[in-house]
Amino acid sequence: MSDQLSPIDRAKYASAHCAADFVQDGMRVGLGTGSTAAWMVRRLGARVQQEGLRIIAVPTSTRTAQLAREVGINVVSLDEARWLDLTIDGADEFDAELTLIKGGGGALLQEKIVATASDQMIVITDAAKEVKTLGAFPLPIEVIPFGWQATRALVEEVLASVDVMGRQSSLRMNGDKPFVTDEGNYILDLALGRIANARQLSLVLNQVPGVVENGLFVDIADIVVIGHADGTCELRDLTSGTPEITTRQVDLGIARNIFSDL
Ligand code: A5P
Repeated sequence: MSDQLSPIDRAKYASAHCAADFVQDGMRVGLGTGSTAAWMVRRLGARVQQEGLRIIAVPTSTRTAQLAREVGINVVSLDEARWLDLTIDGADEFDAELTLIKGGGGALLQEKIVATASDQMIVITDAAKEVKTLGAFPLPIEVIPFGWQATRALVEEVLASVDVMGRQSSLRMNGDKPFVTDEGNYILDLALGRIANARQLSLVLNQVPGVVENGLFVDIADIVVIGHADGTCELRDLTSGTPEITTRQVDLGIARNIFSDL
């Protein structure tokens, strides 16, 4: 049955499965959003059912909260959990320093708050998202709906002061209406092409009134787990500064049970 999964889904599953093994009994865990994170949530749900794993989890979106409850994970708010041991989440792009672009699924604000309130963040991904220089994926920023066009104009203006290739932005849509985040905000996607200095860009963007947060994750992620379609996953741990690399093999047959529930 796992053969029915596309190569990309097998890679995402392998990554999610490997990362879910980092979760230990009694942990407080942040649950990311997106298709890779959904595999991880299902895998954790299976561990809760089969191993009696006891965790409390803080989801980063209403979508993830719903899935987590469906698979039997104990969901609480971040205020109830206060602080987390670990957050596992996907990414849209990552570089060698584990700087990330996130927010393709529109959940960047809660994702960033949850990941930052965690002792450790593990990124789950397939190899196609690794880049030498960030920016090919449009950078999402969350903006307040009030006066969003003025905010957009100011954002495009400040982009002239930083080293990026493009400055065009577009309002993310949901059909013929603006896409609205879980926090009631809009998303602007910035077609930057190349981001020379993510740290500087993040600071500059967050100074514009109306910008709530941007999708650059700088110095937040510690470990990346890169899944491959053959079920192998490569773990790169940057906790100590220099990457420690290990490889593991995931049984793709286990995907069968989870996949049959989808
Ligand atoms: C959600 O807002 C994003 O940050 C996701 O983590 C990111 O888009 C990765 O999603 P996939 O796992 O679906 O590629």
